[in-house]
Amino acid sequence: MRREAHHGRFITFEGLDGCGKSTHLERLAEFLRQRGLEVLTTREPGGTEIGEKIRAILLNSRTQGLAPLAELALMFASRAQQISEVVLPAINRGAWVLCDRYTDSSEAYQGAGRQLGADAVLTLHRVLCLSLQPDLTILLDNDLAASLARARRRNLHAEGEADENRFEQENRAFFERVQKQFLAIAHREPERVALIDARRPLEVVQQDVMTTVCERLLGEH
Ligand code: TYD
Repeated sequence: MRREAHHGRFITFEGLDGCGKSTHLERLAEFLRQRGLEVLTTREPGGTEIGEKIRAILLNSRTQGLAPLAELALMFASRAQQISEVVLPAINRGAWVLCDRYTDSSEAYQGAGRQLGADAVLTLHRVLCLSLQPDLTILLDNDLAASLARARRRNLHAEGEADENRFEQENRAFFERVQKQFLAIAHREPERVALIDARRPLEVVQQDVMTTVCERLLGEH
């Protein structure tokens, strides 16, 4: 999708559950704000009032019998709302939007995990997201076992918060397909997707995220 010359930036974070996306997203937001940029952070599914309602349906482990195609449609319903209500207005006024997950997650989880295929996902992206692509996607690559253990630990501690475990009940083969697809996307679109090794200490990964953003989007070397 073409945008105005003086537009903001759209950065997405991707990776397996529990790979540390949210922490790195917040730290990057802080770093960019310190440089005087207007930064908005958001997430998918969710990010708008309507999107958060959709998120509750999608992630609550009490949701049972949701057909894979209905799941895919709801992911895109939330996304279409977010693009219209949050992302486009922000980047058009020059702000930077940092989003926790976007269409790559649908390609990995629904396309590969649920085995609906990448074509279905990319077709919906074209129609419902007007082909809006991030300027940069940070893909945090972590070991499957470490990611899942971290996600499960986090959920044990999240007492009183919304139950968002529906995907985490999936089996190992599901997450292996998800991870493989994320890596395939990075391989297919190296100009957009920066693959960052998240097995290293948090501070090292954080530095790598910031250097990547500075080099790729701020033209600093
Ligand atoms: P998220 O809140 O990022 O969870 P986590 O912090 O554990 O990574 O994402 C919620 C879940 O939604 C996650 O398991 C991945 C799933 N998801 C999809 O399956 N498809 C999608 O298109 C998106 C955006 C998320």
